[in-house]
Order: sequence, then C-alpha cells, then structure tokens
Amino acid sequence: MAITIAIRSKGSPRAHQPGGLRFGDRSQLGVVHPLGVGHQVPGRPALEAGPRREPDEVTGWLAGESEPALRRATLQRRDLRDDDIAIRVDYCGVCHTDLHSLRAPRDAALVPGHEFTGVVTAAGPAVTRFAAGDPVAVGNIVDSCGKCSMCRRGQENFCAEFPTLTYGGTDRHDGSPTLGAFSREYVVRDEFAYRLPAGLDPAAAAPLLCAGITVWEPLRALGAGPGTRVAVAGLGGLGHLAVKLSVALGAETTVISRSPDKAADASRLGARDLLVSTDPRQPAAARDRFDIVIDTVAVAHDIGPHLRLVALDGTLSQVGHLGPITVEAMDLLVGRKKLTSAGSGGRAGTAAMLEFCARHDVTADVEVVPSAHVNDVLERLARNDVRYRFVLDLADLDHEDPPQKAV
Ligand SMILES: NC(=O)c1ccc[n+]([C@@H]2O[C@H](COP(=O)([O-])OP(=O)(O)OC[C@H]3O[C@@H](n4cnc5c(N)ncnc54)[C@H](OP(=O)(O)O)[C@@H]3O)[C@@H](O)[C@H]2O)c1
Ligand SMILES: [Zn+2]
Ligand SMILES: [Zn+2]
Repeated sequence: MAITIAIRSKGSPRAHQPGGLRFGDRSQLGVVHPLGVGHQVPGRPALEAGPRREPDEVTGWLAGESEPALRRATLQRRDLRDDDIAIRVDYCGVCHTDLHSLRAPRDAALVPGHEFTGVVTAAGPAVTRFAAGDPVAVGNIVDSCGKCSMCRRGQENFCAEFPTLTYGGTDRHDGSPTLGAFSREYVVRDEFAYRLPAGLDPAAAAPLLCAGITVWEPLRALGAGPGTRVAVAGLGGLGHLAVKLSVALGAETTVISRSPDKAADASRLGARDLLVSTDPRQPAAARDRFDIVIDTVAVAHDIGPHLRLVALDGTLSQVGHLGPITVEAMDLLVGRKKLTSAGSGGRAGTAAMLEFCARHDVTADVEVVPSAHVNDVLERLARNDVRYRFVLDLADLDHEDPPQKAV
C-alpha cells in the first residue's frame, strides 16, 4: 500500500493567526509578543510560527490504555516554566520504539513520538538560548538530574536518576506523564532542545534525534573512522543512518541484512557491500572481519552470528533489541571480543552530531506523510515496508478535520 507523500505548503491554516495571545494564566512569562514570549534574535527574521495554542487546543495522536491504535485527541501541555520553551512541532519521525510501546501492555494512555523538529513559539523568562521563530530539534530525552556523575560528564542519557523520556516518562517537577510529539505542540526544558543547523531539511533531520544519535554515540565511542571496518546489522531507520554516519566518518562500512533486495540501497548509502544474513555462506566468509558491529535488528535474536563477525579485540554494540540476550561465552573468548550497548545521547554529543550532519549533509531517507495516516504508517513499519524512515507532517492537525488522502 502506497501512502501519498505530502509537501506541506508554508501558508497552512493555523488554529490562531499571529496578533493576539490567549495563553490562559501565563502571567509569569514576562514580555508578551505576538509570536510568543521572549526576545528576538537581532538581525534574524523570525519564522512564522504563530502563537502558542490554548492549552486545550493542542491536538495529537493518542492511544488509550488498552488500545494499540492512535486516535486524534486534545492534549494538555503545561504552562511554561521559567526555563521552558513551547515548540510548534512540524515533523516527527516514526521510530520502531513507538511501535514496541504501542503494542506492549500498558496501564496508561500513550502519545508516541520522540524525534522531532519544529519552531519555537514561546520561551520562559529564564531562556537565553532560544527565541520565538527559532528552528529547533528534540530527541528522546527531555530532562535529567544534572548532578550525578553521568550528567556531569555530559551523558545525561545515562542519568543515575534515569533521564526523563520524551513520552512514557514522568516529569521531574510535577510528576505528570510525558506525552510525545505526535502532536502539534511540545513543551520542553530549553537545555534539551537543539538548534537545528541551517541547511538541514527539517523533515529529513527529525530522525537524527533518536535513530541518528543512538548510532552516532557508539560509532564515536568505538572509534569508527578511517582504517576501521564497521558492519551495520538491520537496514532500517537506525541502520541506514548508522551506514551514512559510519561512511561520513571515513570507516569502511558493510550492511548485514535479511533482505538481499536492499543491496542497491546499501551501495547508494555508501556501504562497500551487503552480507545476506540468511545465507550461511556469506557470514561464514566474513568471520572475524569487523572492528565494530552495530546491531540494530528490531527483534530478539541470537547475537552469536554477529559476534562471530567481530574482529580480534573488536566490539558488538547491541542497540536494537533491548530485552534479555543470551551470550555464548566462547563467542566472546575467541578473539577477546567485547559486547556493549548504547541509547540516545548526551546534550553535547547530540549538538555535535547535528553539526557533523550539517557539515557532511547527512539526513534520513524519509517518506513524509500527513499525520492522519499514522496508523497505516505503523502497520507498514511493522512489516518492514519503509525505506527508511516515516516522518509525520503534523500540519494537518491545524485543520478541524484532517484531510484523509488516499493511501
Ligand atoms: N538503543 C536505543 O536507545 C534505541 C533507540 C531507538 C530504537 N531502538 C530500537 O532499535 C530497533 C530498530 O529500530 P528502527 O526504528 O531502526 O526499526 P526499523 O526501521 O523497523 O528497522 C529494523 C530493522 O531490523 C531488521 N528486522 C526487522 N524485523 C526483523 C526480524 N523479524 N528478523 C530479523 N531482522 C529484522 C530489518 O532489517 P533488514 O531487513 O535489513 O534485515 C529492519 O529494517 C528497535 O527495536 C527499536 O526499538 C533502540
Ligand atoms: Zn526512537
Ligand atoms: Zn543525572
């Protein structure tokens, strides 16, 4: 089933046109400006972001407690705290984690979405890094304690108190459940938003904020670069960005996939070759070949075959399946191989990744879809029918009745 690719027009209708704020009780916010609250960056024209919505006018895609499907619903976003910004969400990638979360047993409603780009519509009085009109990006963590050893080392993603997740988490201040960015607005502490570098397409950049950073951190930590041989197992959202980033870092890069028909894509992405994991001869011929294997496969699987591809003193980073895994110790012993994992990124690392992507022109291969098609998109993702990331265009939430284009 094909989904219409939407090119959103700049002048899409909005819930409110600029010209008046109706914030409810936001009197603590200081200067009121038609485009939001806060200062303008001198010399830089603000994008037409529009004001914040009324709290009860924010819409998004929500699944009730025992529902796997998403439906349009009104969401509550908090009034801005001093260090918060409000973002009009324009684009949000669809991560396989969204699918896992929707299909897992759950005792609360869920609004997925944790890799997004948009425009600042309002800023609290203590915010100095952003102003209304700034293009920004947010990933899968939105707060951390800021004090533990991991936070002090810039690895807020490993916060000892556990970082606040963009959805399915608990706000550190008021205890409310966090609701994700399959929604037209998100409110976030400014420290966990990133300036979107000029030159990065906002739709194709959105997946960098989860898929990208999740593979960037292990590639950097393990020293991927010229002279290293990297293999990426699973050519999906994470996998194709791992290939692009590894190639851009200068590493010789190979794809490991069940799908031989992805060979042409692997080559286009810059990979040297594609090993078909279901053909036993191909992995056998590549035994002990790779310094780094990044395993992004979305389901539980035997990691032995991937460990056997790792070279002497090399490392397998298991980032795809995050449940229990069984390891045969001999697969580690022979070749002194190492097994590790990673997830998300620290603030400094995320900003560095975005700059690197802007310099090397790395973004995701995306299929941009009106958000009203979110349930179809999730079904297609479940059957591996995506090359390589769906991105929801949330502008249709500005309409009372989102257009249901043919799929
Ligand atoms: N560590 C983290 O913090 C983090 C962050 C984001 C996502 N994740 C997890 O990473 C995984 C990948 O996410 P994604 O968004 O990249 O998913 P995706 O786009 O669906 O890609 C996953 C890839 O895994 C392979 N695969 C899928 N089903 C398989 C099966 N039954 N057997 C073998 N291979 C299979 C496919 O690659 P081939 O067709 O090429 O074989 C597929 O393209 C998910 O489990 C997600 O939850 C983890
Ligand atoms: Zn994700
Ligand atoms: Zn911490």
